[in-house]
This record gives sequence, C-alpha cells and structure tokens, in this order.
Amino acid sequence: MYRKEQLKSYPRMTVQKSLWNVFRQKLIKVIGQFLRRNNHYREANLYQKKLYQPVEETTITALKVSGIIPPHLNGLLLRIGSNPIYTPQPTLFEWYLGDGMIHALKLQQGQAVCYQSTMIATDRVQRLKQKPLIQGFRRGAHDVVNTNIFQHAGKLWAVIEAGAFPICLNDQLQAERYQLFNSDADLPFTAHPRKDPKTGHLHAISYDALDGKNAYYQVIDEKGTLIHVTQILLQHGPMIHDCLITEQEVLVFDFPLTFSTKRLFHGASVPYQWNKQHQARIGILPKYGNADQIQWINLEPCFVFHAANAFRDQDNRIILDVIVHQDDFEHSQHAAYELQNAKLERWIIGPDMQMLKRSVLDSRIQEFPKIDERFTGSPYRYLYTLGFAQAGLFNCLYIHDLEMKTSVTYDFGAQWAIGEVTFVADVLDIEEHQHSPEGHGYLMAYLHHIDGEVAKAVILKVKGLDIQRQADIDLGVHIPLGFHCNWVGIQP
Ligand SMILES: [Fe+2]
Repeated sequence: MYRKEQLKSYPRMTVQKSLWNVFRQKLIKVIGQFLRRNNHYREANLYQKKLYQPVEETTITALKVSGIIPPHLNGLLLRIGSNPIYTPQPTLFEWYLGDGMIHALKLQQGQAVCYQSTMIATDRVQRLKQKPLIQGFRRGAHDVVNTNIFQHAGKLWAVIEAGAFPICLNDQLQAERYQLFNSDADLPFTAHPRKDPKTGHLHAISYDALDGKNAYYQVIDEKGTLIHVTQILLQHGPMIHDCLITEQEVLVFDFPLTFSTKRLFHGASVPYQWNKQHQARIGILPKYGNADQIQWINLEPCFVFHAANAFRDQDNRIILDVIVHQDDFEHSQHAAYELQNAKLERWIIGPDMQMLKRSVLDSRIQEFPKIDERFTGSPYRYLYTLGFAQAGLFNCLYIHDLEMKTSVTYDFGAQWAIGEVTFVADVLDIEEHQHSPEGHGYLMAYLHHIDGEVAKAVILKVKGLDIQRQADIDLGVHIPLGFHCNWVGIQP
C-alpha cells in the first residue's frame, strides 16, 4: 500500500528549463529537416491521402442515426490521431509525429448531440492558427501531442510518449495547459498509463527519447497529484509504449526496439531500430515500490506495443495477455502490421518469479486490445481486439472468451477501417447504479471510410460473445484513421 513518505525528490520544471526545451525542439526540428532530405527510409507516403487525408476542424449538430442510442450512454466518444495542419514537404511527413486532432461524439439521453473535431493546441498549431499559446512549461524532443486521450482528476488529458508533457483540456475540448497532471515535475509521461479501478490511481512507465538510460515509474492519484516516482536504469533507450498492472505489481516492458543514432543520421523521424544486442525482459515491480525492488525476467526477442491485461491467478502466478510483434521496425519505419504477424499471447510467470512461459492464444494478426476496464489488474474473461479481415487494414473485431478458449469475429466490411474500440458496461438499474457482469454492455468505435468518404461511429451491444448492432451514427465528414479511442462519461 502506498505510504506518503515514499515520494522522494524528483526533478522540478522551471522557466529556464522550459525555455531551453523550446530552443532544443527548434534545433531538433531544423536538424531533422536537414537529415530527412537524405531519408534512407522514405516510403511511399500514404499518410496524407484517402483514409489518412487530414481534415479541418468542424462541429456538426445534425447527425443521422440508424438504430437506438442507449439513453444512459451520456458522454463523449473520444478519438485522437495525427492530422497535420500544414506539411511543407509531404513526402517527408511522419505519421507518428503529425499534429494531434481530437474527434468527439457527444451522446446524451439517447441523442447524438454533436460531433466536434479540434486540433490539439500545441505551440506549432496555435502559431499556424494565429492563436495565443496555452499555459504551462514545455518539454520533450518534439512539440507534438497526438496518441491517447482520457479523463483523469476531472479533466481530459491528451498524451504522447517519449518526453512531451500531457495537454490538459476541459470537457468542451478547450486546451488549458501543458502539465504533468497537477504536479511541477520535469518528467516525461506515457501514452498508456493504467488506471487501477480500485484506487483510481494512474500507474505509468514513462521514458524520454532524449535520455536512453532511464525510465520512470510514476503514480498519479485520483486528484492528479504525483504521489510516487522511481527511476529505473535501462540500456540503449528502449521504446516503452505500454505497461500492465496486477493488484500488487506494475509490469515493466524492456524490449529490443531501441533508440538508434544510425537511423537518426539516416533521416528516420522515429529513430528506433530492432537491436539484437538488447536483452528482452519483463520487470516486476511492487506497486508504489522503488526501482531496486524490480525483479527482471528475460525472454526471447519480441516487442509489445499494446498489452491487454495482467493478474495473479489462484496459483499466485502472474498472467499477462499481450499482442506480440516479432521484429518491429525491422521491415518498415511505420511498423507495418501486415509484416509483423502480431498475435495474441499469454505469458505466465511462476510464483517464484524465475520463469516466463509463452503460449499463443490466437495466431491471427490483431492489435489494439481492450477489455472491460473494471477488471484491469484482475482475473477477466473477455478481450476485444481488432483484426485484419482484409490485408493491410483493421476492419474486423474479435471478441475472445479467454475462459472458454474461443472467439467470435464481427466483420465491418471491406470499405471500413475500424478504429480502436472502447467498452462501456451496461447499467442494470440506473437509480441504484448497478452495473452489469463483465462483458455485458456496449462497444463503441469510429469507422473510417477507406476512400476518405463520410465516417461513422458505431455502437455494438455485446453480451459475452453475442454481438448486436445497436446504432450507427453518420458523422457527416471524413475522419482520418487515428490512434486511440476512449469513452468519457459525463452526466447530463
Ligand atoms: Fe498505443
């Protein structure tokens, strides 16, 4: 359990540091543009056309709905992704570093009230829009925030990994400031913190691309206060995109996709490379613990972008369900999924924490795992992933029943690319706030048209493996394929 005195000193952000960071971002940008003129990794850049075509900010109130929107789904279906506001050299555009845009569909009392898209107010975006810069200090190698968005401590937070501060927004999507939640820390953050449903605390493993020797385990409490930090020593600057928690531990991913100076000088915008010298390993760290308590377990080379869940089973083993890539960034700067053969695996760590056993649960290509988040860190049964019904695009949903070792597929059709799904539990009794069993509720997602035509949001009613189409909401405009999606409940 967390004890207040555990929070030791940590680096504080200052005006001087922030000014230096702004200068360094400009320097990195100029050097990057020079290096990318000879980009060895330049690929056919599809990331500004059709499915990925950037859009203008918009608000649409007259939305056509097919089906019935459940009246207790009150809130925002939030999607975030890359949407470059201005690209002087389109062939050199890097999708992962495009300006962030938020897409928000507001549902209220059975109505689709509006769809709104808003650029994330980084300094670059505000200057291009000739708007005032937002408050807060700056950090990180790039002035980009585009990867995930969620609610915490009464605010929305748009985040990216590798160094930049999160951007805080109100529920009208107006950006307020850059900040590491309500702290004064000069620390990076991650795109994938894990919220403990029992405490409301966010647990995060964060790294800075400009510091290859350290990662940080941070805990942010339910009020947004940084209550715990410990510094984890690493080698080679590994990319750490996600983490997992159980009821007792946080699990640290240290895999062999590491910072590459060679790739940097060859013009790669995201200079990470498969590193055969780097030992793949999982760190097991007690929640609120310090780095010297980590127990590391080695495993054969692989990479995990996104993990589903972890828990201790009845035999006190640690179970991790993860999407495993074999050799990321080896074939493509953009981690082309069709070349990765990313598959669903279950990893089991014995009670002595000495051995990790891998088994493949599903060998079909899949990614973007989501669960009923009431079960984060606990034994669970249902897992939702996106599959490749058609080569090159995620256009089907898999629901895995991990207990019965079976799954079902829901195909959205060849013209649709499905974005990440988000699960919302059904309400059995609204007055009593009684919620449904695991896996009984609604899956929501954005559907992106592959030729750049009008996008949709879809609501599926799910009950275990049973899927019914509940409602389609025509959003009136094209929405480019993005990164992550979450539901934020807001009482009317
Ligand atoms: Fe991600």
